[in-house]
Amino acid sequence: MEPLGLRAVGSHCSLSEMDDLDLTRALDKPRLKIERKRSFDERSMSELSAGYGRHDGLHDSPRGRSVLDTPLSSARNCFEPHPMMAEAWEALRRSMVFFRGHPVGTLAAVDNTTDEVLNYDQVFVRDFVPSALAFLMNGESDIVKHFLLKTLQLQDSEKRVDRFKLGKGVMPASFKVRHDPVREMDHLVADFGETAIGRVAPVDSGFWWIILLRAYTKSTGDLTLSETPECQKGIKLILSLCLAEGFDTFPTLLCADGCSMIDRRMGVYGYPIEIQALFYMALRCALSMLKPDGDGRECIEQITKRLHALSFHMRNYFWLDYQQLNDIYRYKTEEYSHTAVNKFNVMPDSIPDWVFDFMPLRGGYFVGNVGPAHMDFRWFALGNCVSILSSLATPDQSMAIMDLLEHRWAELVGEMPLKMCYPCLEGHEWRIITGCDPKNTRWSYHNGGSWPVLLWQLTAACIKTGRPQIARRAVDLIESRLHRDCWPEYYDGKLGRYVRKQARKYQTWSIAGYLVAKMLLEDPSHIGMISLEEDKLMKPVIKRSASWPQL
Ligand code: GLC
Repeated sequence: MEPLGLRAVGSHCSLSEMDDLDLTRALDKPRLKIERKRSFDERSMSELSAGYGRHDGLHDSPRGRSVLDTPLSSARNCFEPHPMMAEAWEALRRSMVFFRGHPVGTLAAVDNTTDEVLNYDQVFVRDFVPSALAFLMNGESDIVKHFLLKTLQLQDSEKRVDRFKLGKGVMPASFKVRHDPVREMDHLVADFGETAIGRVAPVDSGFWWIILLRAYTKSTGDLTLSETPECQKGIKLILSLCLAEGFDTFPTLLCADGCSMIDRRMGVYGYPIEIQALFYMALRCALSMLKPDGDGRECIEQITKRLHALSFHMRNYFWLDYQQLNDIYRYKTEEYSHTAVNKFNVMPDSIPDWVFDFMPLRGGYFVGNVGPAHMDFRWFALGNCVSILSSLATPDQSMAIMDLLEHRWAELVGEMPLKMCYPCLEGHEWRIITGCDPKNTRWSYHNGGSWPVLLWQLTAACIKTGRPQIARRAVDLIESRLHRDCWPEYYDGKLGRYVRKQARKYQTWSIAGYLVAKMLLEDPSHIGMISLEEDKLMKPVIKRSASWPQL
């Protein structure tokens, strides 16, 4: 076995230049540009070079690669592994699940302090992502490959809720390995939502699967997996669920409450930011892996058009900063024509009071949801971090998201990174929106609870924007508590100070998230696995005045 946690290997990058595909070559160019205060690339490069021993190759290189091979860097030599890392590696390895002798994933939690297992003894697709990244960063790609292949096989199974059949492309939320002692055989049992609370299919699973396939390919340089007909088909099946034409008038993806990390009713239905950001990232990752043969070409075309429309929609209508808030505050309503400014007929009276105080003069974020007469102003961590990683956020928007995080550190980070969403729902709102959910009471669990797993996404976003010092602050907080508290799943309270009875201990993604954050800080070139560069020629369309550009 490798020495625990101490091996970091290079991130070989062999994906084609499609990664940074120039969408605008194929499609109309946007008409308006924003003024950039300071170049994103200049800033991230200069700050990275100040913070780390090496940064070369983090951005584009002559072959269009975003990461070069990563020999042990000088930064690594001065990197002192925290004692928590060895313990984290041990705990991560304890959570490994084997299928017929091969590692295929990690359990959601290995909590021996409770008999109440619920479904934490399963391998969740979304939970495995940070585990997979930790293994990849440590040069252990086997488990990731087996996971990708096994879940792909599961995609093929028939999925039903009562008499209704789910779409072919749906990926499982989780699976379990059952051992048949009589036949001495392992077999897999998956859940596609048919046994989950609320019976909702996990829309995020397929997106994470595509994102992970790219991370695997980028990290190992092994193109043979993503190029197999099986993987190509798997990608197309997932996307066929999202790209089909229908009644949609928006490029965003319409979905039910509870279809992602927040898997209980939380008013996160319609067009939630988490799904839109993952959708965007998965589309871009798919574009870098799909072969332009047969139906691949058609899929590539559909993706390209959708990306263009989706980035326009998100960057304009989901973006909120001080100026935009003020514009919405002054909105006229009941506008019918093509020239309408308030396109979705959002009522200024529906703006919650808290947002006026929360919004700093500098900074901004993607709001939780935008639909007809509906803006959910809540801030969600995952959606905003993934927007940065996928470059759905423009460089200016990415900087603004980080500015807001710094400005609202007490509210969003407090004593434990990171709030899943802000603020919480309480009182009447909680009753109506969550359906009186006793697990999602105010400042707990999905309702304003603090989730250590989000540290990896925060760290990755910090590195991408060239602000690793923010991540270091967050890591310090984690290191002062997480291990002492036995790696809980989430913390409660306005400041994220308390561990609730229902919170799992030894929650695998809390453990893996910490490892990924540490390895990213140690060797920032790992960022290439989970980040996509800006499409440089597709200039952002942002105008923060009342006259939004016409489609
Ligand atoms: C909870 C979380 C979900 C996670 C699962 C396993 O249901 O809400 O996001 O995947 O636990 O950890």
